[in-house]
Amino acid sequence: MNIEDPRLRGDKFKIEEFRMKLNILCIGDVVGRPGKRILADNLGTIVNQQQIDCVIVNAENAAGGSGLTRRIYEKLLKYGVDLITLGDHAFKKKDIITVLEDSDNIARPANLSAHAAGKSFALCKIKKGPIVAAVPLIGRIFMKPADSPYDCIDALLPKLENQADIIFVDMHAEATSEKISMGYYLDGRVACVFGTHTHVVTADEKILPKGTAYITDIGMTGAHHSVLGRKIEPVLKNFRTQMPCPFEIATEDARLNGIVVTVDSNTKKAEKISRIEFKDQKSESISYDSDDGKPDHNNGFE
Ligand SMILES: [Fe+2]
Ligand SMILES: [Fe+2]
Repeated sequence: MNIEDPRLRGDKFKIEEFRMKLNILCIGDVVGRPGKRILADNLGTIVNQQQIDCVIVNAENAAGGSGLTRRIYEKLLKYGVDLITLGDHAFKKKDIITVLEDSDNIARPANLSAHAAGKSFALCKIKKGPIVAAVPLIGRIFMKPADSPYDCIDALLPKLENQADIIFVDMHAEATSEKISMGYYLDGRVACVFGTHTHVVTADEKILPKGTAYITDIGMTGAHHSVLGRKIEPVLKNFRTQMPCPFEIATEDARLNGIVVTVDSNTKKAEKISRIEFKDQKSESISYDSDDGKPDHNNGFE
């Protein structure tokens, strides 16, 4: 018997002490080289200053704006990322497939086909002890076909509750209504539902009535003098002419967008959610580096 464990001694005061507050940082879609650069240069400082216990990053746009590669996955872990979620760009770069099959800390949307490569949730044991899970779900309004995210999470949660202490859901969707609905659907069942995919941060962060932290979109980590991280001119040309244009990565005004959620380890509910935006003074000129592969010449965002 471990007499140091206050729960075993029944010491009420000590039980309060044993209760942990965990600060979990969620970072919005990292877009291309400028997103990776600001993350690499500043994540360590943010983690130290805000006493972060776990870092969750949506990395679906990390490789040249579309997809993720093994090399960039490994670099994100070196920067201090613990868990990686993906969205509709999950399979855009082929060499991520083996990473998705072999790794527990990265997941593709859970409500894709059960036969698609990759895991439905990402897991990590943080230094303080608890296991944190990140579950990506993908929306179905103005998105490609996918299974019901509601049926999917209902089936997944009983299994996941046996494997993880704290559960975060990344609702990757276009429509605000679909994300807000999922927030209320999961209120009291997970610690946090945060939205990604639109690359535009919303100002509606709150704790829902049963203790789940919620925000419709946590924004984008990349160049903000842009259209969703891409250069303005080709996007405008595409909208005006409907001709295919290379949506190259923008470089100016790099910012890191995300949230910090404080979770009580005993109740597994959220106590606080705060938006963060980090800018640094570095000017950028490079859209792509050797990690990115070929620039993405398709018309596609998010
Ligand atoms: Fe997306
Ligand atoms: Fe995205």
